[in-house]
Amino acid sequence: MIYLIGNWKMAPEKSLKAVELTKASAAIAKQYKKSVTTIICPPALFLSGAQKQVKVPLLIGAQGVAASDAVAQTGLMSAAMLKDVGAQYCIVGHSEMRARGDSNTYVKEQVMRLLEKKISPILCIGEQQRDEQGWYLSEVKEQLETAFADLAPLQAKKIIIAYEPVWAIGSKATRAATPMECREMLIFIRKFLSDRYGEKVAKTIPLLYGGSADEFNAQTFITDGEAQGFLVGRVSLDPKRLALLAKAIS
Ligand code: PGA
Repeated sequence: MIYLIGNWKMAPEKSLKAVELTKASAAIAKQYKKSVTTIICPPALFLSGAQKQVKVPLLIGAQGVAASDAVAQTGLMSAAMLKDVGAQYCIVGHSEMRARGDSNTYVKEQVMRLLEKKISPILCIGEQQRDEQGWYLSEVKEQLETAFADLAPLQAKKIIIAYEPVWAIGSKATRAATPMECREMLIFIRKFLSDRYGEKVAKTIPLLYGGSADEFNAQTFITDGEAQGFLVGRVSLDPKRLALLAKAIS
C-alpha cells in the first residue's frame, strides 16, 4: 500500500473551498483505494467540517498538536481535541514548524501525546542542506534518536516517517531530491530503525518522501527511491493534479 498524504498547510481561505477539496479528495481516495491510502491534513479549523464529509477510504489528519496537555496554552490544540474531530493522523516535526521553534525534544513530546490518544504521528525529518562530508546524515540521525528515544516497538510501529529535505520543500525549492538521494536516506533511516527495533518492526514503519513531489516524478521515487508514499503540499490543493499523482503511484 502506498501512502498519499496531503498537507494543506494554511489553505484554503474559505471553509466552502475546504469542503469542496475534501469531497474531491474523497473521490480520488475511493478511485485508487486498492493501492493507495489517501489522508488529508487540513488546517485544524476545518477538521470537524472535513469529518462530516469524509467517508472511508479517505482518512483525516491534523497539522500539529500541543506537546503537553496543560490547558494554559493559548492558540494550541490538544491530542484529545484532534481525536474528537476525527483526526487519525497528525503531522509533527515539519520543517516549517521546526523553523518556528519546534525542537527535537518538543517533537518527541508531541509524538508521545499523539500515541497516548491513539493518533498516528506523521514524523517529518530532513536536513537543511546537503554537504559533501555527509554531516546531513547526523542531522537526520539526531532527529530520529530524539523522536524514538522512549518508544517501545509497539509504539514505534504506529509512526509514519516522512523524509523531507528542507531544501526541496515548497515554492522556494529549486528542485526535488533525486530518487537516489531519497533512496540513500531511506536506507539510512531503515537501518536506524532496524538497529533499534529489529528488522521485522523496522519494515512495518512506512517511509515516505516529501518535497516537490508531483505527478511527474512520483513514480521514480517509488521504483528507484524506495519511497512507500508521499507527503505533498502544493499538489494536494489541486484535485486535478492530486488525481494524476494518485494515478501515477497506484
Ligand atoms: P510541497 O510541500 O509538496 O509543496 O513541496 C511538501 C511539504 O511541505 O510537506
